[in-house]
Amino acid sequence: MQDRSDAPHRLDATGADQHAANERLRARGPVVPVVLPGDVAAVAVTRHEELKEFLAHPEVAKNARHFTALREGAVPPGWPLATFATVEGMTTADGDDHRRLRGLVTQVLTPRRVEELRPRVEELTDRLLDALGRAASYGAAGVVDLREHFALPLPMAVISELLGVDPDLRDGLHQLSTLIVSTTTTPERALAVNRDMADILDLVVARRRAAPGDDLTSALLAARAEDSDRLTDRELTGTLLLMVVAGHETTLNLITNAVRALCAHPEQLELVRTGKADWADVVEETLRYDSPVSFFPFRYPTRDLTIGGTVVPRGTPVLASYTAAGRDERAYGPDAARFDITRRPAARHLSFGHGPHYCLGAPLARLEATTALRALYTRYPDLELAVPDHDLPPHPSFVGNSAEVLPVRLRP
Ligand code: HEM
Repeated sequence: MQDRSDAPHRLDATGADQHAANERLRARGPVVPVVLPGDVAAVAVTRHEELKEFLAHPEVAKNARHFTALREGAVPPGWPLATFATVEGMTTADGDDHRRLRGLVTQVLTPRRVEELRPRVEELTDRLLDALGRAASYGAAGVVDLREHFALPLPMAVISELLGVDPDLRDGLHQLSTLIVSTTTTPERALAVNRDMADILDLVVARRRAAPGDDLTSALLAARAEDSDRLTDRELTGTLLLMVVAGHETTLNLITNAVRALCAHPEQLELVRTGKADWADVVEETLRYDSPVSFFPFRYPTRDLTIGGTVVPRGTPVLASYTAAGRDERAYGPDAARFDITRRPAARHLSFGHGPHYCLGAPLARLEATTALRALYTRYPDLELAVPDHDLPPHPSFVGNSAEVLPVRLRP
């Protein structure tokens, strides 16, 4: 499909029909001008090879001091995407600063620590499945929102325990995270959300300072006490914010998108049942086919840069279009839009990023998603969508990519 319009594409803040819009964007080219809420001009990298090159490019930065329009005051106050640009943590840091901030987290979130979490993830999953059965027995005709009652509470509990967030603060944190990821938030609301988020994170820090535990917040506080140059106060809360948001909004979308895809493709589920594929295949194919992170803000070329034959001027905010790249026919063949868990693609999906900012939660996300899906389908093998797939409302965001609810009939 060829989109001949030269007008920059306005990203739909409601997140509706993302795959159709992405197809049109890819047809325009690998590097496409887009307009963000607040009429901020940006560029999206939509195809696999160009995105991979861009993500690892040495002359591309993440620190917002390179964001020309922001520096020049051309970005409106309360801009809904401001948090992504200005939060102080590894996702907006480059070079040594990035290595310092990322290192503080990877020291704690080691492969061993993730593996040690396995029994806890399994236990939390089983408890949620018990509660899911109860929720379904109260719901109309045994229908339950799997997103709210399963896909969300699992990653939220895991990341909260990892960070040392007490249970009474978790609901508030999730609601605020959702608003940070949402692209339909008004400027007034966005400012209030950031204030409320800072208040809760300050409380998390105060509690762990008073009563340290075997968690990431306590470890960051200890690193800070040892040498205050290792982490400022704002970097501490910025890191926590990043870990809370990245640590659950994404895995929530992954579990939701995987169940949705399996409901629409029962023959693929059958392949797992008959041992011809496994849950890891479902997870990897879902990451490619329906990437949980859609347009990730931001990177900025530090000089005028030619990517895929297009010049991206220095200081332009650039979005990494992971959901679009996942269905790029140049990388995955003419059937890129097909969900096929036996696919052995020549290209490896980019849905956890690429280069220095590659997702540091990928092993944990994979552990959570495979555990969740295996246990869900063992307990409820005949689970089905309770509404037609095309009636599922989109999660209102172009940063995330998922359905807002996932009503299913468990049929135990
Ligand atoms: C970075 C995706 C789960 C923590 C990223 C990036 C992507 C991504 C695409 C790179 C963003 C960019 O710079 O363009 C995902 C997906 C997940 C997931 C799809 C689940 C399915 C998690 C979890 C955690 C986490 C569970 C925490 C435990 C982070 C952090 C970064 C990151 C801290 C920033 C790394 C850096 O800037 O160096 N993730 N993520 N993510 N992710 Fe994840």
